[in-house]
Amino acid sequence: MPWCSISQYRNIEQVNEAVSLNRITKMVNTKTKEIYSNQGEIELFYSPNSKSDSIVTKILNKEYKIVMNIVKRIINKKVGKLNKKIQLTALDIGCSGGRYCFSFAKLGLKTTGIDIAKKATDFASKKSKELGTKNLTFQVGEATNLKFKPNTFDIIICIEVLHHLSNKDLKIAFQQIHKVLKPGGVAIIDLKNKLNTIINLTYKYHTNKTFKNTGHLMLTRTPHQYTRLIKNTGLKIIKSKSIFSPIKLLSPVIMYIIKKK
Ligand SMILES: C[S@@+](CC[C@H](N)C(=O)[O-])C[C@H]1O[C@@H](n2cnc3c(N)ncnc32)[C@H](O)[C@@H]1O
Repeated sequence: MPWCSISQYRNIEQVNEAVSLNRITKMVNTKTKEIYSNQGEIELFYSPNSKSDSIVTKILNKEYKIVMNIVKRIINKKVGKLNKKIQLTALDIGCSGGRYCFSFAKLGLKTTGIDIAKKATDFASKKSKELGTKNLTFQVGEATNLKFKPNTFDIIICIEVLHHLSNKDLKIAFQQIHKVLKPGGVAIIDLKNKLNTIINLTYKYHTNKTFKNTGHLMLTRTPHQYTRLIKNTGLKIIKSKSIFSPIKLLSPVIMYIIKKK
């Protein structure tokens, strides 16, 4: 466009970039919904403690233990501090079959599970009805568009989800978590660590092989990238925990406990 001024040209560039990023988001979300509508996947994420010996289920079981311990501690601290019977609220972003949601509801948390895949939330809702679980709702929803009032939740978890998001959407997801978390509220998220060679190469191979054709993203990030993004959103990291490595920086998965100031 030779007749454009430089500033107009920059705008056109930006518009093109935004359009192509939105296309990526759409492609990624479509594929994610397809993959996670699979009944086997949904059932895997319904069970709190999978019996299989694979490394994936070992990671999932370990994550479950860590998250549950943290959540129990938060409940004790918050409820104990206020010294009265209050009901804390929890949100699970990307809940799938709802393994965390059912456990949270049992602990007395008023829990909402959301997932981009309707089949997953339908499955979890049906189970919840069959079991007569109280204080538990499931609905379709996206990490990048949390349709809740600001300052709604005491606890938010987003586990095994964020590596499916593009960098642009990851930033938006952190902003959304910040919006709906109460001041003093705690979020627990995981990072697939780029500094761990095995997970980095596996995810790179998978994404290179499938992304162009299908849009399935599996991204690793460095702890530095992650912590910078989290801090830029106004959230504060209070602790991080490694999984399967004595050296945190080299751990395949790192769990972050984050607070809204
Ligand atoms: C690997 S499963 C993890 C399930 C659960 N968090 C757990 O750890 O038991 C990932 C889930 O995240 C959901 N998901 C992926 N991207 C999402 C997004 N942008 N918004 C909401 N859910 C998403 C998928 O549909 C899938 O059910």
